[in-house]
Amino acid sequence: MTTTLVKGAVPYGEGAPVDILVEDGQIAEITAAGDTGERPGDVIEADGLVALPGFVDLHTHLREPGREDTETIETGSAAAALGGYTAVFAMANTDPVADNTVVVEHVWRRGREVALVDVHPIGAVTVGLKGERLAEMGAMARSLAGVRIFSDDGMCVADPLIMRRALEYSRGLDVLIAQHAEEPRLTVGAQAHEGEAAARLGLAGWPAAAEESIVARDCLLAGHVGARLHVCHVSTAGTADVLRWAKARGTQVSAEVTPHHLLLDDDRLETYDPVNKVNPPLRTSSDTKALRAALAEGVIDCVATDHAPHAPQDKDCEWSAARPGMLGLQTALSVVIETMVRPGLLDWRGVARVMSERPAEIAGLPDQGRPIAVGEPANLVLVDPEAVWTVNGAQLASLAGNTPYEGMRLPGVIKGTLLRGKVTARDGRVAS
Ligand code: DOR
Ligand code: ZN
Repeated sequence: MTTTLVKGAVPYGEGAPVDILVEDGQIAEITAAGDTGERPGDVIEADGLVALPGFVDLHTHLREPGREDTETIETGSAAAALGGYTAVFAMANTDPVADNTVVVEHVWRRGREVALVDVHPIGAVTVGLKGERLAEMGAMARSLAGVRIFSDDGMCVADPLIMRRALEYSRGLDVLIAQHAEEPRLTVGAQAHEGEAAARLGLAGWPAAAEESIVARDCLLAGHVGARLHVCHVSTAGTADVLRWAKARGTQVSAEVTPHHLLLDDDRLETYDPVNKVNPPLRTSSDTKALRAALAEGVIDCVATDHAPHAPQDKDCEWSAARPGMLGLQTALSVVIETMVRPGLLDWRGVARVMSERPAEIAGLPDQGRPIAVGEPANLVLVDPEAVWTVNGAQLASLAGNTPYEGMRLPGVIKGTLLRGKVTARDGRVAS
């Protein structure tokens, strides 16, 4: 039997510190701090640390297969464990695309071998992400990988009839369609949020309405066929309004926001540094404000990273040639503390809700996002809420270094992550 004792942590940052005894992957005992006598096994000194359920990321790009020069399942899993994650969903826009059982089973198997985080492959909705023909969703759902989320992320399922069919199938299969909401006709050549900053710099605009119109359409379609819908990386105040409306009328829709859309805005464009290029683009400061409020209110259900590693040659180049995307796994919690906890919009319970419980529910993971209680799986993250760190892309576990937070001092340091009782990260190091 493997035993680990977590000493002196404060679950959800509420009340007195406790000792958490973990045996064989489960929480076996929770006692007042200091009451647990000598125990054989590993001890984690967690005085003053906040204990939360391990985080679940519904939106991660791990780049394997195809771009192992930028990230692999191994390096991405390490970044996830260091970021406090115990489960991640790996997007399907790999090369080859995860639109068949061979690719999704590879991702699933490799995730199990690495064993730092539960890696759940996302399957493509359409063959090759082309938006033309539905992929074999049923086969992927029934495969060893047990795919439960499908997305063409990177691309929008733009054809309304294909989207309708995908939603209909998803209902029958009890899986979830996650939409990258971008009406492609409105974003041809787009380089940045269509607004003052882009106009001043001469960058072709990506209008908010290109996102909002697809979200509205998809909510109507999901309601019509009685399916669930998940909206990826909500980036505008208007999308939050559409979601509020759809939820009020009973649509089964959930939504995520990225840390970068909570913190960063299009003031960043001034430098023309492509590290700030992302899709959907950084919006305005009033959008970030509205997104924070919508997340606090529950209109946006959860935080997802859209962790998108890119090679230097795809980022350190002129703006128009650069690929969109930024790293996110190791900075997500700190950005959520900065944007939500410090301003008083969320407490630690709220952080557990948006980074662990809701994403686990949305994805249908029975053993993630569970309460910190006796008999529950020991998927835990230990956070030093007072510590501050300086982001350095070169030191992150990802193979790529494209963090928009380079040099920033951010609050909150992850001291430990446990996956079913196994320590996967400790004091900034991945467990071997
Ligand atoms: O910024 C982005 N990067 N947005 C996407 O939708 C895709 C992603 C990527 O794969 O790099
Ligand atoms: Zn996307």
